[in-house]
Amino acid sequence: MPRDEWVAPEPVAEEQQGEVLDEAGLRPRSLEDFVGQRELKDRLGIMLDAASARNQAADHLLFAGPPGLGKTTLAAIVAAELGAQMYPTSGPAIEKPGDLASILSSLERGDVLFIDEIHRLPRIVEEVLYPAMEDLQIDVIIGTGPAARSIRFDLEPFTLVGATTRMGLITGPLRDRFGFNFRLEFYGADDLELIVTRAAAILGVEISKSGAGEIARRSRGTPRIANRLLRRVQDFAEVRGDGTINQQTAADGLALFGIDELGLDMVDRRLLENLCGNFSGGPVGLKTLAISVAEPTETVEDVIEPFLIQQGLLLRTSQGRVATPAAWRHVGLQPPDDAPDGPESSVFS
Ligand SMILES: Nc1ncnc2c1ncn2[C@@H]1O[C@H](COP(=O)(O)OP(=O)(O)OP(=O)(O)O)[C@@H](O)[C@H]1O
Ligand SMILES: [Mg+2]
Repeated sequence: MPRDEWVAPEPVAEEQQGEVLDEAGLRPRSLEDFVGQRELKDRLGIMLDAASARNQAADHLLFAGPPGLGKTTLAAIVAAELGAQMYPTSGPAIEKPGDLASILSSLERGDVLFIDEIHRLPRIVEEVLYPAMEDLQIDVIIGTGPAARSIRFDLEPFTLVGATTRMGLITGPLRDRFGFNFRLEFYGADDLELIVTRAAAILGVEISKSGAGEIARRSRGTPRIANRLLRRVQDFAEVRGDGTINQQTAADGLALFGIDELGLDMVDRRLLENLCGNFSGGPVGLKTLAISVAEPTETVEDVIEPFLIQQGLLLRTSQGRVATPAAWRHVGLQPPDDAPDGPESSVFS
């Protein structure tokens, strides 16, 4: 497979291009511009500086965390900081061992190979990755049947950057071959305020500190959502106001788009309403809950639940999902006496 075939970006629907281009434009390009995640930045910065100073490819890196927290952004930053080319692909796009073998053998010294959704790599493909990551070698089977033989190829030193929303689905052997696993955490309001302020400057919209704070507080701890809400509020301010954003414009605009004070959207609230109203607060199985909000189970597990868990609204227990008293109150219901206030379970299943 020639290089330019597999590095081609995924096609984007026409009507989404505006916002996708915006997202690309809002992406920080250096570690310095990347807001928040301080521990991760410190550790990553040291690893990258050391690799650059030794003039070597950096060790393989894995970024895990809920959608929109900056995994793809960090992969691009890693390549930029190393002065390397980045070749992006994704787990489900690599179907056969031969696909991966041709990608790997086309890499040049120091290149960064970014595999998004690496937990969705087929197992037989993953096995080709092990010796590549560890010994810079791949075994390619030539021919079929009794005449088949395995030929070993040497690879140029490269850095694999993997991203996953599901750390729990990464197999042990794969995880162990990364030099470092980084977990991205939800962002605090201060960091999100900075992100909103920075994005507003790029988009050329005037915003007050309290306006940025209002959007930040309601962004589900997620930079992608902060940027998206900023655009919705910008639309609102242009149509209903003078185009500038203060706290009131932000609050009114967000309310119009169904975002509540905690930043929950309509689907988040519907899930909590169903859990409390229809399932007596649980425990209820993931599948049942997902059907009740008409969303795929993966969306509920990867996108909706992590923030509800982090906010102490939902618990994952061995019997199923359970609403906390805060969840009952958030949807305007009186919690029963036995609603559990238990410790947070893991955000990553
Ligand atoms: N730390 C940050 N500082 C500023 N902006 C950020 C930061 N992290 C993410 N963003 C913004 O959020 C957007 C989404 O980030 P990104 O695409 O890297 O998320 P992701 O973790 O790869 O999500 P997914 O799991 O859906 O692929 C980026 O376009 C960028 O504008
Ligand atoms: Mg991504």
